[in-house]
Amino acid sequence: MFRPVAQLPLDYSVFKDKKSVFSWAPSGAVLFGNGASVRTGEELKKLGVKKATLVTDQGLVKFGIAERIIQSVREAGIALDVYDKCEPDSSVETVERIAGLAQDSDVLIGLGGGSSMDPAKAAAILVANGGSIRDYQGCDKFTKAPLPIVAIPTAAGTGSECTPFAVIADRQRAWKMPIGGTGIMPALAICDPELTYSLPAGVTAATGMDALTHAIEAYTSRCTEPISDALAMQAIRLIAHAIRPAVYRGDIDRDARYDMMMGAMLAGYAFTSASLGISHCMAHPLGAQYQVPHGVANALCLPVVMEFNMGAWPERYADIAGFFGEDTCGMSVREAAKTGVRCVYELLEDMPIRPLESFGVTEGSLERLADDAMLGGDRPNNPRMTTKEDFIQLYRKVMTLKK
Ligand SMILES: [Fe+2]
Repeated sequence: MFRPVAQLPLDYSVFKDKKSVFSWAPSGAVLFGNGASVRTGEELKKLGVKKATLVTDQGLVKFGIAERIIQSVREAGIALDVYDKCEPDSSVETVERIAGLAQDSDVLIGLGGGSSMDPAKAAAILVANGGSIRDYQGCDKFTKAPLPIVAIPTAAGTGSECTPFAVIADRQRAWKMPIGGTGIMPALAICDPELTYSLPAGVTAATGMDALTHAIEAYTSRCTEPISDALAMQAIRLIAHAIRPAVYRGDIDRDARYDMMMGAMLAGYAFTSASLGISHCMAHPLGAQYQVPHGVANALCLPVVMEFNMGAWPERYADIAGFFGEDTCGMSVREAAKTGVRCVYELLEDMPIRPLESFGVTEGSLERLADDAMLGGDRPNNPRMTTKEDFIQLYRKVMTLKK
């Protein structure tokens, strides 16, 4: 049985500046490339794994992607249990069922989007520490090292394959529960762009916009540092150029699929250190209260949030225009920053994303949504401070998009 490399505790101090000491210890190995996932069994064998539990969903079973991994693991002579009933926004109950199944496993394999990787991470905590997953909401709340995680993303989005975070839906409270801890950073991420070739346009758009939100929020967060900046910049560049071809000709444009998966992974590493901003504070209540898919919520909130934040750090939003390929020579910083925001509004226009109204969000929803957005853990990391009234205005603007 193997254990991830020891890590420093997560550092959430805000206002990092050049006088601050920051830690960078993301750990975890990465195997990246077309066809990488067929090497899953071989990789587990090298790590000394004898028994594994695979966590996935019915869609991946149906499309034969789960079978590809199951075959690879079994061919390597590793015993395998399979949990294949993850639902969108996996719940507390799902985590408990996975933990029950994985009691005698050496490793949990999360195969899918965040809705498979995150419950695998959460179950890894429960197997080692017991109790209810509700006991571990927050950061570093567990004492025993969780079961190691191998994460295999099947969409370029959440970046969960390279973050020490999981988000679990607590349906009793209509709340998305954040759980973080260095021990749930996947010990190995296997990123295989081939697994995304058959993703439909809508899912590619939503997950891709989530990844872009991670990169932009990490680049403009109050917790930025030079390493996260380097990762976020490259993530924005890759996603800005690859997302349209990945969405509209993702069945044939393999380079676009490759760049999206790389961009999503780099963005995951960036926000592991730099944290996120208020687009995520707004997206989580939309998911918990109205089942708006996480990527759709972020796609709609991101440009509105950028416009709101722009004045707090215009230089960064000006950079974003450049990452999108805009020529900002001769522009003032403010003009360039506005161009950066415009690029994201235009991108959203081009994406097959549904309006908020179609999920049942109305003017009467805004008060409660704003209350929950105020509780978002990333609110202090956003470049501009926000009040409840700000959130109401922001949601109101988001409701006007894509109509
Ligand atoms: Fe996200």
